[in-house]
Amino acid sequence: MKVDGRHFRSIWLEPDGWTVGAIDQRRLPHEFIVAKLTTADEAGDAIRSMLVRGAPLIGATAAYGMALAMRADASDAALDRAYEMLIATRPTAINLKWALDEMQRALRPLSASSRTEAAYARACEIADEDVEINADIGRHGLALIEQIAATKKPGETVNVLTHCNAGWLATVDWGTATSPIYQAHDRGVKVHVWVDETRPRNQGASLTAWELGHHGVPHTVIPDNTGGHLMQHRMVDLAIVGTDRVAANGDVCNKIGTYLKALAAHDNGVPFYVALPSPTIDFRIDDGIRQIPIEQRAASEVTHLTGRTADGRIETVRVVPEGSPIANFGFDVTPARLVTGLITERGVLKAERAALAGAFPERASLR
Ligand code: MRU
Repeated sequence: MKVDGRHFRSIWLEPDGWTVGAIDQRRLPHEFIVAKLTTADEAGDAIRSMLVRGAPLIGATAAYGMALAMRADASDAALDRAYEMLIATRPTAINLKWALDEMQRALRPLSASSRTEAAYARACEIADEDVEINADIGRHGLALIEQIAATKKPGETVNVLTHCNAGWLATVDWGTATSPIYQAHDRGVKVHVWVDETRPRNQGASLTAWELGHHGVPHTVIPDNTGGHLMQHRMVDLAIVGTDRVAANGDVCNKIGTYLKALAAHDNGVPFYVALPSPTIDFRIDDGIRQIPIEQRAASEVTHLTGRTADGRIETVRVVPEGSPIANFGFDVTPARLVTGLITERGVLKAERAALAGAFPERASLR
């Protein structure tokens, strides 16, 4: 997507052919800084510190991290060490494991002398595949938006609510939840996005709003508690969110607060869609609520807020009394029964095992 008229992906290979460039998402929306990753440890730190974040981008970064590891040492032991270090960076997004397994599968059978080149080739492919998948998700989601525009809102604006950032910054390009929105906007369908601010890290307010603004998509940032009210007053036509892991039964894990939006959508008859690339499906898990590991993050994300002062300084301030205990669960699980449909690269599916396994038989058999 474009930043001030220039096309960017969220991650890329630098012209030297080995350094990995990535947008530092911790600095947005206030500063646009490009980070250069030169070792597997730096790739691991980038994921851990959320310099990069979002399930598909975490996967792509880990794949490049393996390539950087192979450049330093392409032995079997180094391959294992890099895998173990990278898989431990964040627990919930299954795309991390998927990408690392892909890299292992590609590299393990090779001799050490051919691993580095093969690792860069597969990492670049994983990034390119993500872009293609998200473009396809966008086509299928666009049809849903166009249908609502034609049947329920002829001549009027279609209002989409989204939570967190499942935009191009969370993927390599296009985004998952935002891909249908960008495609609708580009085709002249009138869309407006309600952007949940997404406390505690504010991925909606900081990242989704920044992306949509740069692409010229009309949007409004709302406090996280506003969605239910908007739905009661028919101000939301559909919700589209992303996901970090979908269980085989269709349960959807996404940024904390997604479940509450799904409940409000259900109560108000608002279609609730989840956009996902197939590497986000975990066919080994049958019960998302009980089996998906939920990341617990630092208390400082809740106790403190960071922003820009009127005179341009970036400041972090405390908003919670000293000594108050904090709980900071990063994700929650929306049960499949609350999901209207899963927007995948192979079409819009029911949130249930048969539909997922039918659309992705090659992945379902890898259980
Ligand atoms: O903690 P984050 O910012 O990595 O969480 C991101 C999300 O929850 C996204 O909605 C999800 O990864 C889908 S990204 C296409």
